[in-house]
Amino acid sequence: MTAADFVVVANRLPVDRVEGPDGEEIWRTSPGGLVAALEPMMRNVNGAWVGWAGQADVELEPFEAGGIRLIPVALSAEEVAEYYEGFANDTIWPLYHDVIAPPQYHREWWDAYVTVNRRFAEAAAATAAPEGTVWVHDYQLQLVPQMVRELRPDVTIGYFHHIPFPAHGLYAQLPWRDQVLRGLLGADVIGFQRAQDATYFLTAVRRRLRYEVKGAHVSVPDGDGVRTAMARAFPISIDTTPYLELAAREDVRARAAEIRASLGNPKRILLGVDRLDYTKGIRHRIKAYGELLAEGRLKVEDVTLVQVASPSRERVDAYVHLRDEIELAVSRINGDTDTMGHSAIRYLHQGFPREEMVALYLAADVMLVTALRDGMNLVAKEYVATRVDDRGVLVLSEFTGAADELRQAVRVNPHDIEGLKDAIMTAVEMTPTEQGRRMRSLRRRVLDNDVDAWSSSFLAALSEVRGR
Ligand code: G6P
Repeated sequence: MTAADFVVVANRLPVDRVEGPDGEEIWRTSPGGLVAALEPMMRNVNGAWVGWAGQADVELEPFEAGGIRLIPVALSAEEVAEYYEGFANDTIWPLYHDVIAPPQYHREWWDAYVTVNRRFAEAAAATAAPEGTVWVHDYQLQLVPQMVRELRPDVTIGYFHHIPFPAHGLYAQLPWRDQVLRGLLGADVIGFQRAQDATYFLTAVRRRLRYEVKGAHVSVPDGDGVRTAMARAFPISIDTTPYLELAAREDVRARAAEIRASLGNPKRILLGVDRLDYTKGIRHRIKAYGELLAEGRLKVEDVTLVQVASPSRERVDAYVHLRDEIELAVSRINGDTDTMGHSAIRYLHQGFPREEMVALYLAADVMLVTALRDGMNLVAKEYVATRVDDRGVLVLSEFTGAADELRQAVRVNPHDIEGLKDAIMTAVEMTPTEQGRRMRSLRRRVLDNDVDAWSSSFLAALSEVRGR
């Protein structure tokens, strides 16, 4: 196998292997923002992508898909339970999202995390060309940068953290807090979504490891000497081109009109699009909306909330409970307020192809992004990119990374249900002129800072640090 100059390492490959109804093999696009953001960049470089195919106990040879060379890493069923569902998604995920759900700390999960991180690091080290670049992604693989450095001191190593990094008071809970910091500091550049995340990380480094920190630079002991690692924000974005193209397509616009008609032509369509995750504030959104209906500030004949909640991490307890809670809340509100012709909430526990999502974005007068904590939230950017007509209102939680950039959104604190209700009313009642004014500014921001700008600035920082 030829070595690759540029190697992406992420928990998931860009495609997921699933079994069809007759046990046949089906490949589909992996869930979440990480893959959506990285895939376009990988098409333009001669690189390889190291990741897991999404199923336990499946050994696969390297293969090519959509012009990208894929190097599968196998996980046993036990590793899926302990490394992926356990340490990544029931320890780190809740801890790093400000303990919205209680993190579980189990030593066996940590052991599995170390073992699996080493496997990813070995695959990356075996794939990278001499003096090549390895770009590691996200919280599932925080030990990989240092492990790659030990195996391959010649390569340049980047790490990008797609989710929040917590304040020191919370981070300090982690029993393996020092090991994780050392793992991350194996990278030459450690990228975060927000300036605040980078600050929290640097504070943890200073306080726990006592390394010297000057601005964004950390002096990391390295053998007998010291090397420099840099940590700062590189807010991620989307590839805007497919959204612009789809939004201009006649059939997609016709589909948007069809969606509106099939909902009974309400005056306003509200939309939520999330993985079904407790960080997304779906419960808060539904509660606020339900109260507006109950108080008569909104009428079921006039509005519909479409909530797309794509299935996620369905074997982790917190997600099982969340689904029950949301489905109970949705059916209560619908039961109390629906008429034969109108439904308060159209709830879809499904994922949809991008074309259908663009039609939904075009149909939605108000986009509700009410996350309690979110690294970035690319759905907000997708909505803005899609609105080529300069219409629509984005309601955006201040606890998302996107809130740092999308200043002309209607900002909300989703914990404040009264404030959230008022924000929904402001959005529902906003005049077309005001919508246009805000949307034009939002669109400028998203179109000028797309995913190419993000990856270029990260890679430029990487060569600068490596050249020091
Ligand atoms: C977020 C994370 C990604 C993750 C995605 C989907 O976007 O930042 O790393 O891949 O969620 O979650 P999953 O557990 O299905 O990979």
